[in-house]
Amino acid sequence: MLSFKTILLCSGLVLRVDAFALQFRNPVTCLQPLECDTLSTYWSPAARQDATCIFTPANTQDVARAVKLFTRKNCQFAIRGGGHSYNPGWAGIVNGVLISLSNLNTVTYDPQTGLASIGAGNRWRNVYASLAPHNVTVLGGRSSNVGVGGYLTGGGISYYSNERGWATDNIHSVEIVLADGKIITASREQNSELFRCIKGGSNNYGVITKFVLETVDASRPFNGFVGVYPDSSTNDLFTAAYSYCTGGSDSDPKSHMIFSSSINGTSVALNAVIMTYRDAFDAANPAPVLEPYLDSNIPNLAIIPISINGTVGEVANALSNGQAPGNRYTMGTFSIYADLELLKDLRNIWAEETTTTIRTRPGFATEFAFQPVGEKWLASSAARGGNSFGITSPLVVVWIQPRWNSAADDAVMVEYTDRVRTRCEQAARDAGKFAKFRHLNYGGRNQDIIPSFGTASVLRMQLNKIRYDPLNVFGRLVPGGFKIPGF
Ligand SMILES: Cc1cc2nc3c(=O)[nH]c(=O)nc-3n(C[C@H](O)[C@H](O)[C@H](O)COP(=O)(O)OP(=O)(O)OC[C@H]3O[C@@H](n4cnc5c(N)ncnc54)[C@H](O)[C@@H]3O)c2cc1C
Ligand SMILES: *[C@@H]1O[C@H](CO)[C@@H](O)[C@H](O)[C@H]1NC(C)=O
Ligand SMILES: *[C@@H]1O[C@H](CO)[C@@H](O)[C@H](O)[C@H]1NC(C)=O
Ligand SMILES: *[C@@H]1O[C@H](CO)[C@@H](O)[C@H](O)[C@H]1NC(C)=O
Repeated sequence: MLSFKTILLCSGLVLRVDAFALQFRNPVTCLQPLECDTLSTYWSPAARQDATCIFTPANTQDVARAVKLFTRKNCQFAIRGGGHSYNPGWAGIVNGVLISLSNLNTVTYDPQTGLASIGAGNRWRNVYASLAPHNVTVLGGRSSNVGVGGYLTGGGISYYSNERGWATDNIHSVEIVLADGKIITASREQNSELFRCIKGGSNNYGVITKFVLETVDASRPFNGFVGVYPDSSTNDLFTAAYSYCTGGSDSDPKSHMIFSSSINGTSVALNAVIMTYRDAFDAANPAPVLEPYLDSNIPNLAIIPISINGTVGEVANALSNGQAPGNRYTMGTFSIYADLELLKDLRNIWAEETTTTIRTRPGFATEFAFQPVGEKWLASSAARGGNSFGITSPLVVVWIQPRWNSAADDAVMVEYTDRVRTRCEQAARDAGKFAKFRHLNYGGRNQDIIPSFGTASVLRMQLNKIRYDPLNVFGRLVPGGFKIPGF
C-alpha cells in the first residue's frame, strides 16, 4: 500500500470536493489513502466499536491531512484519545475511520515557563511519570490509565481540583486541527473565545493534538487512603461527608475526597471514601478535615493506605490497577445542591433499584458516588478565565456506574442506570435541590450534557461553532460524543 503521506500530497487532484453532498461516502472510498491499523483498545468492551479503519497519525500534520480529506470527501470518522469513554460510538465508529491519537504521546517540560506540553494521545500514567523527575505534576486523571484528550476536553476532576478548579481550567493553550485542516493555537490570548469553548467542548470544534498545561509543584509528599465502612455506618459517614460538601473542602483545599457506596453481586452495600492530601500528612495526627474518616468514630472495616509520603502518580496507578480494562461498564450522572437528607435518600433509591434481578447478573457490581465541588474550586475556574460549564454555586456531582460481564446484559444495565438516575433527579427536584449541571466525562449515552451548561454557555458554544466549524464537520461527520444543540 502507498503511504498515507504520498497519496495525500496529491489527493486534491484526484478527489472531488463535495462537502455538501447529502450522502456520506462509503467508508471504503475514504480509506484508500490511509494505512490502517488493527489496534483496538477500549477500557470497557461495552463501548467498543470496530471501525472500517483505524488511522494512527504520527504527528499533527498527519491529523490535519486526514481531517481535511474527510471534510472534502464527506467521510464519517471518530476521534479517540485513551478510549475510556463509557459510550459506544463516542470514540469509535462502525462505518468509518477512527483517528486514534495514541502515537501523539510526547511529554516535555519547560522549567523557564513552568509549562508542560503534552501530546493529546497520552495516558496520565505516562504524563505523571515523565514530569515527576522535574518535581512537578499537572491536574489529570485520578486513575492513571485514563486518556488525556477526552478527560481534558470534558472537564476533568483531579486530586488538585479544590485548589485549582477543573483540570481543563489549567490548560494554558491547545494546538487544534480545524475541519479545513488548518492548525491553530487557542489560549487566553489567541482565539480566546474558542479556547473557552474547548473547556467542556469535547470533540465539537476540532481534533486537539497538543495541550500545554500549567504545572503544580510536586516536591511535597502526596498521601492517599481508601476508607471502607459497613452499611450500618451510612448515617455517620454521610453526615461527615455532608460537612465536607458544605465548607470542608474549602477549609483545607489540599485535601480531596470522593465518597461512595457499592454493592458487589448479592453482598450487602458498603460505603467508601477515597481521600488524598497533597502535603505532609501524619496518619497518627491527620489533617482535621480528613480526621473523621480515619478515626474510630465512624467504625470502619479497613483504612487502606495507597501512598504515604509518595506521589500523585502512585495514587493514580493504584486506582487504575483497581479498575483494570476488560469489564463492561456504563455511566449516568446528575448534580445536586448539598442536603444531608437528600444524600441519604438518593443512596436509598440506588439501593432499592439494585434489585435481585439486577444483582444476580454475572460479574455485577454497582457504584454510586458523590463528588463535592466547593467555592474555592469554582473561584479557581473563574480566576483562570472560566469554562463552558456555567456553574455558579457549589454543588455535588453524583454518578452511578454498574459493571457486568455479558454483552447480553448491556441493555438491562443501561436501563437500570437510566432508571436510578431519573428517579434520583426527580427526588432532587422534589427537594428543591436539583442542580442542572451534568459532568460531561461521566455522561451516559442517553443523556443531554451540553444543554445542562445553561443558555449563556450554549449560546457562546453555538456562536463559536459557526465561526470555527462553519460546515459542522464535527457534528455531521463525527456522529459520536456529546453534541452542541443545533449541531
Ligand atoms: C477508570 C476511569 C477513571 C476515570 N477517572 C476520572 C477522573 O478522575 N476524573 C474525571 O473527570 N473523569 C474520569 N473518568 C472519565 C474520563 O475522563 C472520560 O471517560 C474521558 O472521556 C476519558 O478520556 P479518553 O481520552 O480516555 O476518552 P476517549 O474515549 O478516547 O474519548 C472521549 C471523547 O473525547 C473525544 N476526544 C478524545 N480526545 C480528543 C481530542 N484530542 N480532540 C478532540 N476530541 C477528543 C472523543 O472523540 C470522545 O468523544 C474516568 C473514566 C474511567 C473509565
Ligand atoms: C527534585 O527534588 C529532589 C528531592 O527534594 C531533589 O533531590 C532533586 O534535585 C529535585 N529535582 C529537580 C529537577 O529539581
Ligand atoms: C510521612 O511524613 C510525615 C511528615 O513529615 C511524618 O510525620 C511521617 O512519619 C512520614 N510517614 C512515613 C511512613 O514515612
Ligand atoms: C466481591 O467482593 C468480594 C469481597 O470483597 C471479593 O472477594 C470478590 O472478588 C468480589 N467479586 C467481584 C465480582 O468483584
